[in-house]
Amino acid sequence: MTPHQLRKLFLDFFQSKNHQIIPSASLVPDNDPTTLFITAGMHPLVPYLLGQPHPGGKRLASIQKCVRTTDIDEVGDLTHLTFFEMLGNWSLGDYFKREAILWSWEFLTSPKWLGLDKEKLFVSVFAGDTNAPRDEESAAIWQKIFTSENVSNPEKRIFYYPKSENWWGPAGNTGPCGPDTEIFYYTGKASPFAAGFSDEPAADNSDFIEIWNNVFMQYNKNSDGSYTKLKQHNVDTGLGLERMVGILNWIKGKTNSSDLFLSPLFSPTIKVIENITSQKYQEGNFNQDSTKNNNSRSIRIVADHLRSGVFIVGDGVFPSNKERGYVLRRLIRRSARELYKLGLSIEQLDGAVTQILQSIVNNEQYQLQYPEIAKQADQIIDIIVAEITKFSKTLHKGLVQAEKIQNFTGQEAFDLYQTYGFPLEMTREIAEEKGQSINLDTFKAEFAKHQEKSRQESAGKYKGGLADHSETATKYHTATHLLHTALRKFLGDHIHQEGSNITAARLRFDFSHQSALSESEIEQIENWVNEQIDLDWPVTQATMPKTEALKGGALAFFKEKYPDIVSVYTIGQNDQIISQELCGGPHVKHTGEIGHIQLIKQKNIGSGVRRLYLKLADS
Ligand code: ALA
Repeated sequence: MTPHQLRKLFLDFFQSKNHQIIPSASLVPDNDPTTLFITAGMHPLVPYLLGQPHPGGKRLASIQKCVRTTDIDEVGDLTHLTFFEMLGNWSLGDYFKREAILWSWEFLTSPKWLGLDKEKLFVSVFAGDTNAPRDEESAAIWQKIFTSENVSNPEKRIFYYPKSENWWGPAGNTGPCGPDTEIFYYTGKASPFAAGFSDEPAADNSDFIEIWNNVFMQYNKNSDGSYTKLKQHNVDTGLGLERMVGILNWIKGKTNSSDLFLSPLFSPTIKVIENITSQKYQEGNFNQDSTKNNNSRSIRIVADHLRSGVFIVGDGVFPSNKERGYVLRRLIRRSARELYKLGLSIEQLDGAVTQILQSIVNNEQYQLQYPEIAKQADQIIDIIVAEITKFSKTLHKGLVQAEKIQNFTGQEAFDLYQTYGFPLEMTREIAEEKGQSINLDTFKAEFAKHQEKSRQESAGKYKGGLADHSETATKYHTATHLLHTALRKFLGDHIHQEGSNITAARLRFDFSHQSALSESEIEQIENWVNEQIDLDWPVTQATMPKTEALKGGALAFFKEKYPDIVSVYTIGQNDQIISQELCGGPHVKHTGEIGHIQLIKQKNIGSGVRRLYLKLADS
């Protein structure tokens, strides 16, 4: 089964259970200042898990692009990826444990769908603690399924684990979360019921591979660490595409192991890396612990990191020294070093990376699902290769310098970072390859000093909940719409919003435009927005079919994909419509609530994209 066939099968299955299919959100959270990237399918749905009605209804399913970098050091082994696609289904206050579990089972085991061997499936449930009870309900549902389906040893298939294993969320510091039940595929050879068998799903390097997580989002985690019950019972599930394809191809005999890098998501890229480095990729299995410092590990790192780079740049992020841009920079730079380790010279890096990137943007498995990547292919390749070119200038010198170091200290790691642009994890790997470790505390102390200024700038950002519905953020959301309209009014209809970001201290707005704004243009825009604020227009929300909204002239993001039913915010009334945009909110009720705004700064961020900073006058 190809990855695209699996995506389609999953969505068809949930459509047959009356779910509305929603498109993947951008990897960059929409006006959510608390996390850098979307890390799970539920992440863009937080407001709806909290009770806001979703335009698509109460049953949703999607394929969501995700980036998780907390385990970036681990990438290169056989189980970690920085970018992945999550297949998920949701109940927003509709069905709960019984249906969710039954449908997972049906999709996994029915010959009409994946047809997995039932004997290979095992599950875990939440053991209970002071915050929430033991999940006997899920366990009883599983027990009934195993018994009625004549699966052997039903009670030995259910494992109870604490919060560390069987609780999911929140995606940020606060927000919806709950106990989960996880489904595992047993990949081992020994009988899991034999006397003396000791492996189990939660063990390190286990032969039980988690394939699907069903989360029962009933709780909200508050900023003081306490949990309160949500007003609705939600279901949030996640099945990793790459992992499932790896297992399916292996059990159907298409590959000799469950190595996910053998799937068509990666195989064209692996082939290119093999060709340009003249190294052979050795396939592995999930449960094998891969040795560090071997060529296949380097190949996996390059394939993973550059794939993430493509999708991150595709969603409008540029390499930089801050936040998302820095994550992207680290991914690209680490790939450069791994290619160097694989034997390429500094001069070969640009050409090699171009070829690898081409294998990603031209991969049919992505073209079928993410047309935005193919459309921007040249720009994506240019941006990533420019970063490689830049790093190539210091990579060799930095490596020579690192070679001389007898004993890596945090200070030295910091110097390599500052002088040669070496990301910490790269230096740590270099140290480890020489059998040394780095004192991270010293590095962090130096790094913290260095970052102090930018930290102060973004200090306000980590206050508040996951989806920032604070009064200030809400004002900025409505100001965003007014600014968008003003830019189109004074600069022309070619203006499109490319992205925005809100913190407690400002709004950052990116848009397509070739030249800098003149002082008089800035003044005109600022005055016009402030006039609309003074006119105190009503701001109203309506849910309607996307075609109707777009026909009526509502603005939508170019790159964003929208569901068939959308939420539209209108500023103005009757025949005086000031702005109409497809948007999930939140917004003020009347523009007068915003108070006046000021445009404080503009920047050229390259590729025809300009950035404006707007501040509320009274903040
Ligand atoms: N949100 C859940 C996860 O990411 C489904 O595992």
